[in-house]
Amino acid sequence: MDAIRIVGGTPIEGRIRISGAKNAALPILCATLLSDGESLLRNVPALRDIETCSDLLRTIGREVSCAPPEVRVGGSDITPEAPYELVKRMRASVLVLGPLLARCGRAKVSLPGGCQIGSRPIDQHLKGLEALGANIKLDRGYVIADAPRLRGAEVVFDMPTVTGTENLMMAAALAKGTTTLVNCAREPEIVELARVLNKMGARVSGAGTASISIEGQDELAPFDHAIISDRIETGTYMVAAGATGGDLLIEGAPLSDLEALVGKLRAAGISITAEGEAIRVQRQGPLRAVNTTTSPHPGFPTDMQAQFMVLMCVAEGTSRITETIFENRFMHVPELRRMGAKIAVEGHTAFVTGVPELTGAEVMATDLRASASLVIAGLVATDEETTIRRVYHLDRGYEKMEAKLAAVGATVERIRGLSP
Ligand code: EPU
Repeated sequence: MDAIRIVGGTPIEGRIRISGAKNAALPILCATLLSDGESLLRNVPALRDIETCSDLLRTIGREVSCAPPEVRVGGSDITPEAPYELVKRMRASVLVLGPLLARCGRAKVSLPGGCQIGSRPIDQHLKGLEALGANIKLDRGYVIADAPRLRGAEVVFDMPTVTGTENLMMAAALAKGTTTLVNCAREPEIVELARVLNKMGARVSGAGTASISIEGQDELAPFDHAIISDRIETGTYMVAAGATGGDLLIEGAPLSDLEALVGKLRAAGISITAEGEAIRVQRQGPLRAVNTTTSPHPGFPTDMQAQFMVLMCVAEGTSRITETIFENRFMHVPELRRMGAKIAVEGHTAFVTGVPELTGAEVMATDLRASASLVIAGLVATDEETTIRRVYHLDRGYEKMEAKLAAVGATVERIRGLSP
């Protein structure tokens, strides 16, 4: 198993280019199931989750040429089944359920189990598909769904769910009649999926608001689409620059989808400015404690909570960080404590009292964003080196992170095959 070794204490300075968004690419790869013919995705990040999704599409019967930044998906034979071996590797595999059911009239998809950050049920996906006329039963860990032809309907989600909204949008695109989705997630990745579905010939409106309307079609066409840049990768490097007191020019990502995060970073004492097409992130003065609470977009993203916490670990004062999306997303806290952080957790809130310095340590990555937070902590740590084990979590969602950081002056290297 690979590990990452970091010698911290150096401000990162230079340019970093942001890759395509993982959480936009995954549903769009699944949307290729809605049509015959070859679709072309551009600006796809080279990540383990993209490989897993490609394997899943191949298992289903598609021909996939996965060569990021381009992925081509073609072929017309579909076996509407997603086995446990693949779904357990990546929960987002559940995104094939809506397209398979709409396309084939039936689908058998393994139920994703819980994961490190929470139990993550898919009841809202199933409730929505049932409202579109699907018959759904659960059998030995699998969702078995059938519906000769889905029918447009109104679906009211109990809470905004990102992949739930996406699954329903894709299913509704081939349903008979119009579907209205209410209380939808409003993430930019949903707007991006709507763009693709519209390119395929569906009529989707309202994406990015709480109510989305989809006029279903009898057939959809393949597409050619360049994926938007990854806002969470962007935010992660913003925090890394701010935490190390660096000066970074972040290229290829707009500021527009990051308002809540940028507001908090500025309040913490980090300067963030648009510079042409790029974003400049700098910090000269001390970091200040800032409270934050995660919430669905456009609120503060849960996928940035762990990284933001590292910043607060070295800020002046005590901050309060409340996680409202997932019930167990503080797995990074014990690891950060091993690096000298002062964090007390009460329920869903972490109270972080800033310390002047973090110290390097051997730590364990537990999930994707927790891993990113440990990398940032390693960059900040001034005493001793940090070794982060189980970096396969990081490889799921950050393209060439150690190479990108090394190019801006960090001392970071991958150690291959270190025992877990
Ligand atoms: N929920 C339910 N029932 C459902 C669906 C969701 O109770 O049927 C709950 C969840 O348990 C959670 C909340 O609703 O408490 C929101 O979960 P959501 O469904 O929005 O999460 P997701 O779609 O499974 C996506 C991202 C996550 C990101 C969350 C929240 C993808 C592939 N994954 O997950 O990304 O944290 O939205 O923004 O888009 C990551 O990239 O590290 C990651 C975990």
